[in-house]
This record gives sequence, structure tokens and C-alpha cells, in this order.
Amino acid sequence: MSPFRLTRTLPEDATGAALRADVLAGLTRRPRSLPPKWFYDARGSELFDEITALPEYYPTRAEREILLARAGEIAAATGARTLVELGSGSSDKTRHLLDELDRLHTYVPVDVSESALAAAGSALAAERPGLHVHALVADFTSEVALPDTPGPRLVAFLGGTVGNLLPAERAAFLTSVRALLEPGDALLLGTDLVKDPAVLLAAYDDAAGVTAAFNRNVLRVLDRELGADFDAEAFGHVAVWDAEREWIEMRLRSHGARTVKIPALDLAVDFADGEELRTEVSAKFRPEGVAAELAAAGLERTHWWTDREDRFALSLSVAR
Ligand code: SAH
Ligand code: AVI
Repeated sequence: MSPFRLTRTLPEDATGAALRADVLAGLTRRPRSLPPKWFYDARGSELFDEITALPEYYPTRAEREILLARAGEIAAATGARTLVELGSGSSDKTRHLLDELDRLHTYVPVDVSESALAAAGSALAAERPGLHVHALVADFTSEVALPDTPGPRLVAFLGGTVGNLLPAERAAFLTSVRALLEPGDALLLGTDLVKDPAVLLAAYDDAAGVTAAFNRNVLRVLDRELGADFDAEAFGHVAVWDAEREWIEMRLRSHGARTVKIPALDLAVDFADGEELRTEVSAKFRPEGVAAELAAAGLERTHWWTDREDRFALSLSVAR
């Protein structure tokens, strides 16, 4: 059994204060919106894992295909001794990287979902004798205080989660990742690619309704944490392709007019019949767009790999 540590970098009640601030800001303006990080309580993390196994949800399989084919090249190119993974979730695909990173000393999974982090981190430490696992409960959109571990460092951000940040948030995020990299370090970034909208829409509106349950789960989080009285089942799941901005939007549409009370904020929010609340954007990328965003953050893309059907890409970058 290897050493396993879990550190909470968020101050006591930081999550509660951040949730209250996000809900207040997002529900008191129109169009109404919530940041996607609040999907991921223990149930939300389980639902996301169910999504990854759905026939319509291709990104996880496509990224796994690339990792299986390229993990050896990634290991050779980086010689990583520390792997930091942002938004690591179940760390499932990460196993393919860990299999090949033969110089690795420490794995640092970083996630807001403490339940996912504790389960994945302890399992990996048990499975991989000699690997140090130091999990961080942290928000990757804020400054992440990384433990002092041997370099070179490889920072991985998989799954296409970068697409869940809005363009300005993405630019700030990539700049903050660039600041973490020292000479010899690298960033491994997963990006979902622009494709036939019908394929995209099916991936975000599956026949079994798992994505709908994941979407509604954010309302259950608000009910539990803020004493709100959303009736999650009274909101319909909506997935829309925005062809101009090249992103999928997930929304929740109120069936009927209602006033939702949120006691923790001393707030009542009126929803008109059919009014929508945006819960997530999931941007899809083109190769030149990824290179440009990386370059704007001071990163130089050195490798670009896609799956056989060109659905998803992994890129490796270094600080310029
Ligand atoms: N990397 C995994 C999981 C992707 S799901 C994969 O590729 O399958 C997105 C993950 O990011 C979830 O585990 C969620 O809890 C985490 N996450 C979302 N927003 C976050 C934030 N702001 N800070 C830290 N983790 C976040
Ligand atoms: C985590 N993230 C990359 C997922 C995505 O595809 O944007 C979250 C998700 N939303 C609906 N299905 C999956």
C-alpha cells in the first residue's frame, strides 16, 4: 500500500460561501445561469460516471483510445515525476498514463468532489505500490497550492472539462496553469472537437435520461445546501447546439410558472412558464483554436493527437 494523503485546501465554509455567491449572482440576472461545478456532489459524480458509459457519450471512449495509443509517447516526451490532474473525478482513464509514466513519484489528483477524490485516490494508492498519492480538494479556477514534489511535472486536464469554462474563464485558467509550469514541465489537455450537431446533441440528451438526471441534480444540491424548494422534476432537461459559439448548452426549463424560495439567501426567484436556466456550456474546439488559446496563455503546443474518428484531441504543451 502506497502513501495516500488528502488535503482540503478550501477554508471552512469556503464552498458554502462560494455556492451562495454563485447562486445569488446567477439567479438574479437574466438569462439565469449556474456554474457547472455545482453538479458534482457525491450523486453528481456518480451520475457523471454513468454518463461516461452511455452509448451516445463518445468523449470518454475517444479520449481513452488516444491515451492507450499515446501514453508511451507522453511518458517519453515529459519524463514526468509528478502528475497533477485537474478535475480528476474517478481517475479512471488516468490509469493508462500511470501505466506508462515509469519515472513517476507522486500523483496529485485535484477535484472539488471530495467523495470522488477520496475513492479514486485511496484505490490508486492501494493498487500501485511505490506511488505517492496526494489528493487535493480544491477549485482549479482559483490558485491551487501544489505540494512540493519532484519535477518534471505533467499537469493533465482531461475529459474536455476545459470546454465547461466560458471563453474569458478559459483564458484566465490557461494563464494560471502556465504560471504553474517550470522549464521542463508540460500540460496535457483534452479537448472535444466540433462535429455533426446530431452526434453532439445525442451525447448531451441520451435516451436513458442519465444526462437529464445529472442536469437536474444541481437543483437538488441547491435544495439541500441552501434550503431551496426547487421541484427538480418540474424542470425539463434541454440541450442546445449554439452553432455560432460552437458550444453545447445544457439548460433546465421550468414547466409552468413558479416562485422558488431560497432561504439561505433570503431570496425568491420567479420563473415564467418555459423560462430556462443555463447550467453548463460544453465548448467544442478546432485544432487552430486550441493552438491559439494556448499561445495566448504563453503555451506552445508540441503534440496533437486525435482518435481514429477525429472526435476528440489530446495536446501536449510547454511554457514558451
Ligand atoms: N477527468 C475526468 C472527470 C471529468 S468530470 C474524466 O475525464 O472523466 C469533471 C470533473 O471536474 C468532476 O470530477 C468535477 O468534480 C471536477 N470539477 C468541476 N469543476 C471544478 C472546479 N472548478 N475545480 C475542481 N474540480 C472541478
Ligand atoms: C465534464 N465535462 C467535460 C462534461 C461535458 O461533456 O461537458 C460534463 C457533461 N455534461 C453533460 N454530460 C457530460
